[in-house]
Amino acid sequence: MYKYLFICVILITLNALDNGLGRKPPMGWNPWNKYGCNINEEIIRQTADALVSTGLAAAGYIYLNLDDCWQSARDPATKKIIADPVKFPSGIPSLVQYVHSKGLKFGLYSDAGMQTCEGKPGSLGYEEIDAQTYAEWDIDYLKYDNCHTDGTSPKVRYPPMSAALMKQTKKIYFSMCEWGLEKPWLWAPPIANSWRTTGDISDHWYSFIAILEEQANLAQYAGPGQWNDPDMLEVGNGGMKTHEYQAHFALWAILKAPLLIGCDITNMSQDTKKILMNPEVIAVNQDSLGIQATRVKKVLTSEVWAAEVADNGAGVVAVLFNQASLQESITIEFDKLGISGNQNVRDLINQVELGVATASYTAQVPARSVVMVKFRNARSEQ
Ligand code: GLA
Repeated sequence: MYKYLFICVILITLNALDNGLGRKPPMGWNPWNKYGCNINEEIIRQTADALVSTGLAAAGYIYLNLDDCWQSARDPATKKIIADPVKFPSGIPSLVQYVHSKGLKFGLYSDAGMQTCEGKPGSLGYEEIDAQTYAEWDIDYLKYDNCHTDGTSPKVRYPPMSAALMKQTKKIYFSMCEWGLEKPWLWAPPIANSWRTTGDISDHWYSFIAILEEQANLAQYAGPGQWNDPDMLEVGNGGMKTHEYQAHFALWAILKAPLLIGCDITNMSQDTKKILMNPEVIAVNQDSLGIQATRVKKVLTSEVWAAEVADNGAGVVAVLFNQASLQESITIEFDKLGISGNQNVRDLINQVELGVATASYTAQVPARSVVMVKFRNARSEQ
């Protein structure tokens, strides 16, 4: 089975956008889920400082991305995009320099339409000049939205920006955001590093669950350089309980989602920090195989998502997820994971060894919670 998976990964890799970026899912921060349109350069500078001082950057969160509302107009003469002079009085290039000086990468946002979702100038028809501007400004990442279009398909409107970015010497990660409307996993790999698979997440349990459900059959389209994006993290924004946020984070990690924090990191609780900075959960997301989890079992509100991993001891990671409001006993049979014999079991969230299991593993999973375990062949480790 391992050999078969390996061949699949190679085939997928050949198809990815040829900019060498996103070999692992990108990790970073984006203001949208917390601040919406109310952003300014002060927030961005403070967030850059906090990414470093909290240890988030050292844990892997290195992209500091802007979302909608950083722009105000186009220069009537040059057609170059202009940053909002009230929100960003120092201009984008100096902000980029500041963020880079912290060892971080910088992302911008635009739209494959006439206007962004918040009515700022979009890039449709201005792909070449915008891509040149981003490269001039030393941008590392572009999120590209899908509002206020001319009615043509995303399949027509996204490739020109991808091509314009590829013409620049500066390599820019291309994050498509057409909300999964035209099944981008089927056509976006050669033009983008990731693509949104759904509409917007909100800070509620049922939003998280609905988005998760839509990820069930997408694993085969992800791999190094090309990721399904179920939208940014809501962890720390206050609309869910700690164990619910833990479930959201563990599942996004094993889905190989881009891990873009969406809360105020200058003022995080200990619980939020603990979830976002768990090294063993992050390691699953950043595993070198880049295999997205598939749902290997579902019985009513109990389900198991699993993926093979290579790093820190090769094995299979499983997330046992109880969506119900009461504790459930969840069993995963080893044959559903493609493993057999005696397996060492490690609890990745609590970072403890749980002993050896044979043929199957059962956990008591509290309400609306996950248990995340890694199985490693016991014999080969003796
Ligand atoms: C869309 C996107 C969101 C965000 C907003 C900004 O809704 O899906 O992620 O970028 O636009 O206006």
